[in-house]
Amino acid sequence: MEKILKILQEAGSRVCPMRWEDGTYYLLDQRRLPREETWLPCRSVGDIFSAIRDMVVRGAPAIGITAAFGMVLAAREGAEKGHADLREFLVSRGSYLKDARPTAVNLSWAVDRMLKAVLNEAHEDIPERAEAEALSIWEQDVRANIKMGLLGGELLPQSGGLLTHCNAGALATGGYGTALGVARGARKLKKGIQVFADETRPWLQGARLTAWELIKDDIPVVLSVDNASGYLMRTKKISCVVVGADRIAANGDVANKIGTYNVAVLARAHDIPFYVAAPVSTLDPGTPAGRDIPIEERDAEEITRFAGIQTAPEGTKAVNPVFDITPWEYVSAIITEKGVLKSPYEASIASVVSE
Ligand code: MRU
Repeated sequence: MEKILKILQEAGSRVCPMRWEDGTYYLLDQRRLPREETWLPCRSVGDIFSAIRDMVVRGAPAIGITAAFGMVLAAREGAEKGHADLREFLVSRGSYLKDARPTAVNLSWAVDRMLKAVLNEAHEDIPERAEAEALSIWEQDVRANIKMGLLGGELLPQSGGLLTHCNAGALATGGYGTALGVARGARKLKKGIQVFADETRPWLQGARLTAWELIKDDIPVVLSVDNASGYLMRTKKISCVVVGADRIAANGDVANKIGTYNVAVLARAHDIPFYVAAPVSTLDPGTPAGRDIPIEERDAEEITRFAGIQTAPEGTKAVNPVFDITPWEYVSAIITEKGVLKSPYEASIASVVSE
């Protein structure tokens, strides 16, 4: 872990949402930010499941890394079992973890990678091998983000406004960020980029998390309500949009935080490039198109209440899909650590996934 923290420090990111210390996985509780910086210890695979489901940790790559450490904890929990029973236990704990949240493909990607790494190991080597693999998933994510940051930074103009939606930053990843990694990369390239953060109803990832981590890293950020994005584009405040992704289908359709599609359509109407920054682990060639991506729906109370106070009349019905699909036609480019992908996405995605 020290090695990863050093890479982050050298890259200029002061925020990292996870720690692995003495067999315990700690998560910066993102539900409490920015008011409190509280670390929640996870000591069992059940703790990891709850942390993902309850949004202690969120953001596709951070969920994947956390699930990988869930498998490390599972390997430790099952260490006293016989070899066949341990293998079976790991497979079942993997399926359990995959159900924590359905949309981010990084979750199942990480669990499958962990199973592949450990299932053929000698019994006594499994816990150690699991730990090494989880650390490697985390380190690869950080390195991929830094790479994407520079590739994306090069695409940006020398100065201007970058609109982002939700939080696709250090807090959503192993500690650097995809969309916000591009803002960090642009800064390294000495570009004068001003980030505009949508507040992102109802969990306020933009207001609570994006603003918090950018202020910590001294990157200029301006917050606005989600509905302001059209006005900001029309009044020439925005030069580009950069968002993250929870899953990108084989045809280039992008699942990301609800409202991303609105932003993409507005960007097209104003002739502003719409970039998606995502590591290869977010590409899902097994899912043909956006319509095949499962969209998580959360409790209606997230809409009918605000900060614990009922804001809609009692009994109001509400619909709360937490992701949407942006059709590939609206995506100007997908920035990955293996290069900037352009349409036709079927071919460009297939080429980096098969490498
Ligand atoms: O519900 P969340 O907060 O997990 O949603 C997160 C997003 O939609 C992010 O934009 C996406 O996971 C990319 S994070 C690099």
